[in-house]
Amino acid sequence: MVRLLGAFFRSARAAAPSSRLPSRRLYSAVADPIQPVPDAKLKRLGPKLPPLELESPPPDPGTVGVNAMGMRLQFGGMDDCDIPIAIKPRSIKLDGDHLEIKWANDVPGYDESHVSRYSLRFLKYPSAIPHRGSAGLKRRRIDWDKEIMQRVQHWISYSDYMDDELKFTSAMRHLAITGLVFVKDIPDSREMVAKIATRMGPIRDTFYGSTWDVRSVPKAKNVAYTSQFLDFHMDLMYMKNPPGFQLLHCLQNSCEGGESLFLDSFAVASQIHHWHPEIFKELSQCRLTYEYNHEDHVYSNAWPVFEAGTPDSKQDPHLLHVNYSPPFQGNMLPKWRDYETTSKNIRALHYFAKQLEDERRIFELKLNPGECVIFENRRVLHARRQFNTSSGHRWLAGAYVDEDALLSKFQTLSAKYPFSWFGYTLPGPPYLDNKVEKLETETASKA
Ligand SMILES: [Fe+2]
Repeated sequence: MVRLLGAFFRSARAAAPSSRLPSRRLYSAVADPIQPVPDAKLKRLGPKLPPLELESPPPDPGTVGVNAMGMRLQFGGMDDCDIPIAIKPRSIKLDGDHLEIKWANDVPGYDESHVSRYSLRFLKYPSAIPHRGSAGLKRRRIDWDKEIMQRVQHWISYSDYMDDELKFTSAMRHLAITGLVFVKDIPDSREMVAKIATRMGPIRDTFYGSTWDVRSVPKAKNVAYTSQFLDFHMDLMYMKNPPGFQLLHCLQNSCEGGESLFLDSFAVASQIHHWHPEIFKELSQCRLTYEYNHEDHVYSNAWPVFEAGTPDSKQDPHLLHVNYSPPFQGNMLPKWRDYETTSKNIRALHYFAKQLEDERRIFELKLNPGECVIFENRRVLHARRQFNTSSGHRWLAGAYVDEDALLSKFQTLSAKYPFSWFGYTLPGPPYLDNKVEKLETETASKA
């Protein structure tokens, strides 16, 4: 039903007088440019509405005038099983920005006068967090490399992050777009990483603790707790729900070395999708096993390298996550795979790994005490250069926040401060601004 309605939404927009269309860039969250379409057109579409794809139960006649979400709440006791299989629209009428439907074979208890009334906004955005909205899982992002990130890196002071809602919103918008932001001027306290994390959402607890420390220890069970070079990886891929976002607050970093490296794996995946779709396909199908196998904790899960949904077009990779963490990789391939498949998988993995060695992609910096990096764990690969423990001290405090919590934060901030969220532009040369403009337009039209 929603897909079908999308078709006449698009035609309605095309027919709308341009003078009535607001600036989509600034207003896409608060003003809907949809204009009424002729009832005759609706009548032609009406019989095609599939009755079993109803998104919500029909409202009580007495609730007409209440928005669709309100209606859903009032019908909280009715689930899809209460909707008769044979129900279908007998009339569909557009009344301003609401759609009115009368039903044949209606829900028992409703008579001929029963009218379902849905706001077009609800039908356009039936999910509380639209998948393709600017706060959704499939939100538009800006692919970046070293040169771009050197220009657009976003820093926010701890005091602004904690106390200035608009500046915090801008930081979250930047995080949603690039997957990487930095907090500075943080008080020198081990407690700060928890405060920074909980500003975004509940801390994700793991067997490492709700927060944890990264410093070299004797006989470390995890390479992160040594002083060795730590290659590009994502954290906790051996879990069923790897954390969506990670924080690393620098408390000490006086050793030689120990620089942090970041790389946008979505940019790599998009380029592979464009130039070598056959490799993208291999990496979407090839599931790698990740394991943590020690005396007290044993975890094992398998993920495709490129976790992709159903694309809208050949150009759209519909990337949801990248899953890649060689330091924790288990047995690479199940034994029942044939040689040809295994060989293709390995070739594709080699190609992907080779892309991660390209220094033009790698953004590097050495965190100073009082600075914290926040990054999207299943997008931004992170690594660390070797450091010399005889030359000083290195101590980072870490925490995780789940992806759901950040999507919730993105959604609530975009609704509460639409001008800060949708008006946010990346600093940089004009072509970057153009990318943001395109992003907003496409988000609004596809959501
Ligand atoms: Fe890590």
